[in-house]
Amino acid sequence: MIVLGIETSCDETAAAIVESGSSIKSSIVASQVSVHHTFGGVVPELASRMHMEAIVPVVEKCLDEAGLTVSEIDAVAATQGPGLAGALLVGFCFAKALAFTSGKPLVGVDHLEGHLQTVSIDSKQPCFPMIGLLASGGHTGIYYLKSQGDYQLLGQTRDDAAGEAYDKVAKMLGLGYPGGAVIDDLAHQGNPEAIYFKRPYVDKQAYDFSFSGIKTAVMRYLQSCPKIDHSHRADIAAGFQEAVVDVLVYKVLHAAKKKNCSQIAVVGGVAANKRLRTKLSEAASREKLTLRIPPLSLCGDNAAMIAAVGYHNLKAGKGASLDADAYSRQIRPKL
Ligand code: KG4
Ligand code: ZN
Repeated sequence: MIVLGIETSCDETAAAIVESGSSIKSSIVASQVSVHHTFGGVVPELASRMHMEAIVPVVEKCLDEAGLTVSEIDAVAATQGPGLAGALLVGFCFAKALAFTSGKPLVGVDHLEGHLQTVSIDSKQPCFPMIGLLASGGHTGIYYLKSQGDYQLLGQTRDDAAGEAYDKVAKMLGLGYPGGAVIDDLAHQGNPEAIYFKRPYVDKQAYDFSFSGIKTAVMRYLQSCPKIDHSHRADIAAGFQEAVVDVLVYKVLHAAKKKNCSQIAVVGGVAANKRLRTKLSEAASREKLTLRIPPLSLCGDNAAMIAAVGYHNLKAGKGASLDADAYSRQIRPKL
């Protein structure tokens, strides 16, 4: 079954064609980052308007690269939520129109489930049960993945998402938006032990996170330094990153132990983080756990993950009707 996936929940207009939920035929991502960069964050209305401009060319390019026409697609899947309402509506309504005019089934996909699916795309081995850490700009949570589509949320952030903390700290350091990858690079030039930021574990037994305190700690530290040069800035980035990564790694290992799970995964934009990837793989080999990390192309928002979940939803008889609504908040009980 060939599924066309569409993703427009935030600031990436993406389309992908995936066969049988695992073989990516084409995947196009048009990023709006250069525009939102000027404003230091995503401007929702601008995002919707840019999706409007990009959606047709992106889908056309995606079909082109796969060498397929709409009539050769078996279903249309689109992100239904959560995300920016206006942005979601562009992709979801486009998918509805395409499904309606082509007579193909429509599938609504949860964006978070999409991220969690990225470790199973292209994977030959069964991936369940597994502990999945989803860390992105909008969400940070730990899931117990029992089987395809049967996911239990164990804990999530009580305030900022991990990626959001990266973005805010980057802004404080004058590094622009988005800040995750910039801090990641800068941190490698610094000493992670030079400045210690308290690890926000919340409760070591719980799976919840809290990243707003560490952001404030960085701000206070910066206020106490009248002048900072490049190497000092790199030390701050490294110290901040080490604190965030330590907490993420601790919670994943804790969940794996409690749930007696031998497979762990990290997905979402922050899964691209080099320090997190290194520390998690060190911890996994120490604890004899199998670590699954998606390729960099599937860490950030993309439509291949939406098409892949769309395939599984359709197989499970979970198609969407043409009057289905998009949802901006995390309303699904399990996700
Ligand atoms: O998954 P994603 O593309 O979009 C959301 O669903 O939010 O994640 C974007 C987030 C941003 O906050 C960005 O700063 C962060 O992922 N990010 C990183 C890295 N690359 C992107 N954070 C840490 N290290 C990175 N290398
Ligand atoms: Zn995302």
